[in-house]
Order: sequence, then structure tokens, then C-alpha cells
Amino acid sequence: MNIYISQFRDFVGQEVTIRGWVHNKRSSGPISFLEIRDGQGWTQAVAAKNSLSDSAWAATENSTQESSVMITGKVAKHPKRENVFELQVTDLKVIQRSEDFPIAKKEHGPDFLMDNRHLWLRSKRQWAILRIRDSVITAIGEYLHQNFFIKVDSPVFTPNACEGTTTLFPVPYFDLGTAYLSQSGQLYIEAAIASVGRCYDFGPVFRAEKSKTKRHLTEFWMMDAEAAFVEHDENLNIQEGLVRYIVRYVLQHCAEELTMLERDVEKLKKADAPFTRYTYDAAVKKLNELGSDIKYGEDLGNDDEGLLTKDSLVPVFIEKWPKEIKPFYMKLDKENKLALNDDLIATDGGGEIIGGSQREENVDVLIERMRTEGLNQADYEWYLDTRRYGSVPHSGFGIGLERVVRWITGVEHVRECIPFARTIGRLKP
Ligand code: 4AD
Ligand code: MG
Repeated sequence: MNIYISQFRDFVGQEVTIRGWVHNKRSSGPISFLEIRDGQGWTQAVAAKNSLSDSAWAATENSTQESSVMITGKVAKHPKRENVFELQVTDLKVIQRSEDFPIAKKEHGPDFLMDNRHLWLRSKRQWAILRIRDSVITAIGEYLHQNFFIKVDSPVFTPNACEGTTTLFPVPYFDLGTAYLSQSGQLYIEAAIASVGRCYDFGPVFRAEKSKTKRHLTEFWMMDAEAAFVEHDENLNIQEGLVRYIVRYVLQHCAEELTMLERDVEKLKKADAPFTRYTYDAAVKKLNELGSDIKYGEDLGNDDEGLLTKDSLVPVFIEKWPKEIKPFYMKLDKENKLALNDDLIATDGGGEIIGGSQREENVDVLIERMRTEGLNQADYEWYLDTRRYGSVPHSGFGIGLERVVRWITGVEHVRECIPFARTIGRLKP
């Protein structure tokens, strides 16, 4: 019977067949130890010459790193380690023999590994990251549906900017001139709340960011959520609930993967507690006390984010930023100075993982904000319509998937947190 390695616990003592790839092979005379990956898990297959046919033993000897194989054997409990199983091989067939797999067991530099990303994905580390990424996506969908959000997709080709005009990717668009790849679907799901109340999108977004950092991609995945009748404080509560749900979900479903990545899970567990909230004003003061030279009115740099969270067990909200450094769509406080917004900064050097705000719902105020920011009103008439017909207070936020995966896995560079990274210097494979 064909089963997956992850099902071994239910098949102890039985003969089963698995299909997968040889990750590693060690031989000592008439015994071979093959480390096998079948997508769902990893196991050791022990092949002894004297219990195999000649052809099966020859196939065992012929199998190399990354050869695809079909192995039949008896599932056994590992003699010493709990919850670990192995396969005592009774038959082995090579499906395709792999020769000279480029990623050998020695150390390779990041450029070589990224050039071979299509093959590097097979490593244990990348396997674990891919699975955690999937769990984060699943957790986000679960939490949002439990909280009355539905998924409404937004377009990738857009006629106008959402997050400022300096990071747009232009694309020639037939006779209609220039389209831009979406920086965030926010404006579109803002329109959809008047239909479905609460909604989210989840897809690739694009930023022509010239930043060469461990946190910036030019193409990344963002979940934008938007809810009618939600104001600033409740917006933060929804974000906190979401992030804590993600942490709990990954701890529950990805214990093996977190272990493989040597992530300190005790630290992660502690992040599932009420988050700290600073105003921007308090954050700047605190940073100055801690030795940063940040001035009021400046954006927080990577170092500032690290400094502010270095002793924190939980992620930190920084709310109510000066309007000058935030986009036109954010609603302002009564004094018209501060945006009713927030950035959420993760622990352990994770940096900003969420940006959100209450939205300006008054059409005249919005037009004025657009004018001061030099945006062309004609491009946004459709968006302004959402404020002309039954405008309501509403709020939303965007969470960067790779940033969250980076934080939860403890991986240093965001390029490992997306299957095929796109950065300024990389378009391949
Ligand atoms: O803070 P940002 O720019 O917010 C928006 O785009 C809003 N329109 C979202 C909304 O309110 N619906 O981006 C949101 C998040 C950031 O907090 C960060 O996690 C991630 O997207 N992000 C990036 N991730 C990887 N590479 C980049 N270049 C990123 N830029 C932003
Ligand atoms: Mg931001």
C-alpha cells in the first residue's frame, strides 16, 4: 500500500510503499542507510543486502543523492527515539537516477544557493520554511473567516498608486497607456466593504524598492484586510488577535518544522500575550533615551525598530504617526496632525510586519489630502465614489507574509521566506 511518511505511526509492523527522493545515503558494507523525503516527511530507510533480492540491492547501491525512488518495507519504531519511525527495506526501485546534484553537502554561498533555488527548495531547511509559510496562510484565512471577513480579490494591474508614487512598477498596457503593478489591494477592498462588510485580499504585490536589505523584496505577498464600522482601537485589536492566532497555529501545527529551523519556541509562545502599545511620540522619546538619534517626524529605521523591541517578549504597536510621513488615505485625529494608524513591530529583530490605519471617510478631506500629496484626482474618482455613496467609518491593515514567516521561522533573510524571491538584483530562476 502506498502511504506517506507522515502516516508511519499508524502502520508500525506493516509493509508499506513510499515514493520520494533520496536526500542522503550512507553505506557500511552490506547495509545502506537512506534518508528519504516524500514531501510529507523525512525518514530513514535501512536496506540490508541479505534481506533484499539482487536487483533491489543493486538499485540501492545505484541510488544517489536526489534520485527518485519507490521503496517497500516494514515500518518500525526507532530503537531509541520516541515518535521516530524507520523503514526496513524489502524492495527498492529507482525511478530516475540523479547524477551530480549541484548542491553537495558542503557549504555553499547564498548566491549559489539562490541561483539554484529550484533545487535548493528540496533542503530540509527550505522544506520547513515552505510548510510554515503555508500554515501562516491557513491561519490567516481561518482567523479572518471566524471574524466575519470574506476573501475578495483585488487586481494586480492598476491605474494608480496606493502607497506613494516612488515605488511603482510601470507596465505598457495596450492602447490605454501605462498600468502599474499593485502595491497593495487596499483601495479595492475598501470599495468592497460596502458590499460585504468585512473582506480581505491575499496576493502578490510589487514595490520598485531600491532597498537592499534583509527585509525587502520587490515582489511579496500581502494580505490586506478592511472592515466597515471599525475604528482605530478595534483595528489594533483585530491585528493583535490575528498575529496571536498565527503564532498559536504554527506552534500547534509545525513543531517539527520549528525544531528543524532551531527556532526558540519558548520565545514564540511568549509572544502570544497582550501586545505593547506606544504612540509614535512615546516611541521616539523612548528611542532617544535608548541612544537613537531619531528626530520627531522621521520614519523609524531598522535599527530603531530593533532597539525599541529588544527587551520585549511581545510585538509592539506604534500608533498615531505624524501625517506628513503617512499616506493620503489615513484618517487624522481631531487636531488634524496625527494619523490614526499603526505599525506593528515583531520581536527578535522581526521588524515591521503590519501597517494599518483608520481611513478618511469624508470625500472633501480626502480630496484635499490628495491635492497636498500631488496625486491626480482624476485617477482616483472611482475611489472617491466610495465616500460619496454611503461612506462609513472603516479601518484596515496589510500584513506582509514573508515578514511574518521570517519572524516566526527566525530566518535571517526574507529571500528564503518566499519560494522564488524577486529582489533588485534577482529575477532568476
Ligand atoms: O506598510 P505597507 O506599505 O502598507 C500598505 O501597503 C497598506 N496599503 C496596507 C493596508 O493598510 N491594507 O505594507 C504592509 C506590510 C508591511 O508592514 C510589511 O510587512 C510588508 O507589507 N512589506 C514588505 N515586505 C517585503 N518586502 C517589501 N518591500 C515590503 N514592503 C512592505
Ligand atoms: Mg509600512
